[in-house]
Amino acid sequence: MPPRAKPKAKPLKAKPAKGKKPVKAAAKPAKAKKEAALLPLVAGNWKMNGLTAARAELNAVAKFLAKKPRPNCAVLICPPATLIAAFAAAAKGTGVLIGAQDCHARDSGAFTGDIAAPMLKDAGATHVIVGHSERRALHAERDADVRAKAEAVLRAGLTPIVCVGESEAERDAGWTLDVVGRQVQGSIPDAIPAGRLIVAYEPVWAIGSGRTPTLDDIRVVHAGIRERLAARFGEAAARAARILYGGSVKPSNAAEILRVPGVDGALVGGASLLAKDFNEIVKVYKN
Ligand code: PGA
Repeated sequence: MPPRAKPKAKPLKAKPAKGKKPVKAAAKPAKAKKEAALLPLVAGNWKMNGLTAARAELNAVAKFLAKKPRPNCAVLICPPATLIAAFAAAAKGTGVLIGAQDCHARDSGAFTGDIAAPMLKDAGATHVIVGHSERRALHAERDADVRAKAEAVLRAGLTPIVCVGESEAERDAGWTLDVVGRQVQGSIPDAIPAGRLIVAYEPVWAIGSGRTPTLDDIRVVHAGIRERLAARFGEAAARAARILYGGSVKPSNAAEILRVPGVDGALVGGASLLAKDFNEIVKVYKN
């Protein structure tokens, strides 16, 4: 069974943002985090890819997890909504968690074609990605929408993975920390339980492009995000938060990225579609 955060944790209230104390980034990204809530997370985002036959990939990931040594991280696959129920049933007891890529902000109602968080829970999902840059860009989702979705995810008893990230123009203008800070502020609900605070930093220009920021840039942005979380939720919550890096993570760069201080896992798109690639990334935490 995967060591996972207990969903019963006490809600943290957002603190009024006064002062900005720097917070030390998590010191050990790759190993030996004792509390389940602090385990790194390697999450696969399949996007709009995958038919029933893709179960073979899930099975291959499960098989890899069963081999010793077990990875010192949680492993999540977010297939398209059509596969969630079947994948969750198949993944039971394997250590692979199943998540969703989006949800509606309301729990039910006249919203043709949409999917509510309680439905995802019912299907067996444990996590929901919200505010992915493709949703922000292609469905005009703003921070307030993302926050409402994250609140719906929490209401359903699931864990949101809140995505943030700057565009290339914003980076070139030197606005990365401002943009990401604003998204963190606007997209994360005020009352989020300890251990369920997961942010994915995904520079928009790095997604699907094969390009990644320098390791130092990743370290600086993750530290900036943690500092924002500390100002809002307190230092303990910020330290316990998992900040994932996403954007062109692949077997060839996973080890160096996942070892950057303050990186608590990865959100993997393209390289999560084939178990052989995804397993190589998970393997960074097998030691
Ligand atoms: P990528 O996608 O790994 O294919 O760049 C990451 C994501 O969009 O979550």
